[in-house]
Amino acid sequence: MSATSGPPDTAAAAFRAAMSHLAGGVVIVTTQGPGDTDFGMTATAVCSVSLDPPLVMTCMNHQTATHRAVEASGVFALNLLPAGEEALARRFASKGDDKFAGLGSSRRSTGAPILDAALAYCDCNVEESVSAGDHTIFIGRVLDSGVSAAGGETPLLYFRGDYGSVRPLAEPDGD
Ligand SMILES: Cc1cc2nc3c(=O)[nH]c(=O)nc-3n(C[C@H](O)[C@H](O)[C@H](O)COP(=O)(O)O)c2cc1C
Repeated sequence: MSATSGPPDTAAAAFRAAMSHLAGGVVIVTTQGPGDTDFGMTATAVCSVSLDPPLVMTCMNHQTATHRAVEASGVFALNLLPAGEEALARRFASKGDDKFAGLGSSRRSTGAPILDAALAYCDCNVEESVSAGDHTIFIGRVLDSGVSAAGGETPLLYFRGDYGSVRPLAEPDGD
């Protein structure tokens, strides 16, 4: 294993490499920004925070358009993607004006788009924002959540720079 000390760019590369080994569920974070324009970005820095009250969090780079839109609207929705939606993940990981073109979606409590393709969703009001380095941690109060009608799908994951999914471990040999 290589050391993490040394020049800053070496340390940053080591940090990136280390964190690329943390498998993450792929989520599209959406919001309805100013002028009723929809914004969204692919994110893996997302997790559940609290059950009572129900809270989640997402970390967003200050430079992203979605960050600015969430700051302005005070709402966001988490759209957890199923395996097979890599093209959607790539689309929302890019910069673009019309990422929602041709996509089915609906609105629930907050107005943030809930994608028809989502495996599950959480619709949230921003409860707290914490600036952390070049990102903001948005903590959201979950007003509404649900899972896709299809059910039983496997999640889309991101690991070491590639998309993948899960498969059950083989059962240990019984005795
Ligand atoms: C798999 C994957 C996960 C990502 N996770 C995050 C994340 O958690 N937070 C973040 O700020 N950017 C993340 N990004 C980068 C954004 O998706 C990317 O910057 C996007 O272009 C932002 O779009 P916007 O500027 O239109 O909001 C991720 C990208 C990929 C491919």
